[in-house]
Amino acid sequence: MSGRLEGKVAAISGSSRGIGLAVARAFLAEGAKVAINSRDPAVADRVAEELGAGAAGVGADVSTEAGAKALVGGTIEAFGRLDVLINNAGMSAALPTLELALDRWQKVVDLNMTSVFLCSREAARHMLESGGGSIINTASIMSFSSFPRRLAYGATKAAVVMMTRMLAAEWAPTIRVNAVAPGYTRTEMVEQLQAEGRIDLDAIQHRTPLRRIARPDEMAGAYTFLASDEASYVTGETIVVDGGWLAFGAFEGA
Ligand SMILES: NC(=O)c1ccc[n+]([C@@H]2O[C@H](COP(=O)([O-])OP(=O)(O)OC[C@H]3O[C@@H](n4cnc5c(N)ncnc54)[C@H](OP(=O)(O)O)[C@@H]3O)[C@@H](O)[C@H]2O)c1
Repeated sequence: MSGRLEGKVAAISGSSRGIGLAVARAFLAEGAKVAINSRDPAVADRVAEELGAGAAGVGADVSTEAGAKALVGGTIEAFGRLDVLINNAGMSAALPTLELALDRWQKVVDLNMTSVFLCSREAARHMLESGGGSIINTASIMSFSSFPRRLAYGATKAAVVMMTRMLAAEWAPTIRVNAVAPGYTRTEMVEQLQAEGRIDLDAIQHRTPLRRIARPDEMAGAYTFLASDEASYVTGETIVVDGGWLAFGAFEGA
């Protein structure tokens, strides 16, 4: 049986763990070839080796221009083409704004927002020439809803939604550009925030209509759909996968 992504080559930024790794697994299961990315080339290679045939490691810091070129160039070097770019690498900064240092703000902007510009531009140079492609960005529920102590994260993730629309308009009809907006998902990012006492996962689960945090693999279906030919008429769209978080406006006593 052939998979929905048979013959496609995907580069996934930040795919050594978490949501990116879950998407990589799903893409491989659907027949795609996948470039696994981490800042550390040894980590990218190790994860790719564990995933087996169809995966190749590409070490690159995608928040830099050289890193964006390395991710796209390394993917084409490994597999000869690039059909899908997933801009997934991201970081949080759960800090009161009065304690948010400029260099931390800049790091979040560079990774969550500038990397989307740099990697998309690099991929589009290739896709516009080769005649087609698809870009999928990773947004967040914080693209749409305000949270205290998340100024840099929310601002950059809101920008990702608009960059998705802007690039969809600019590169149509050759490249489709879409996004997935995850709700709270059990990854190292969230585990670390919990360990530092910055979030309360019990309270978050209680606030979520589906009453639990997502597993990373529960994000993968939206990416697979958007990358597949089933989404051939979908562009400029952000699919929210949040267990109902954004739909829910009630509070205790409402
Ligand atoms: N988890 C959630 O609840 C949640 C909710 C909404 C949105 N998101 C978004 O989903 C995406 C993935 O999050 P996650 O929770 O899976 O995060 P994670 O577990 O922290 O994984 C982040 C990944 O990005 C890589 N990475 C970090 N900086 C990088 C850089 N400069 N260049 C290349 N790769 C880099 C990491 O690899 P190395 O450290 O090895 O470089 C790792 O593979 C992010 O954009 C995040 O904002 C997450």
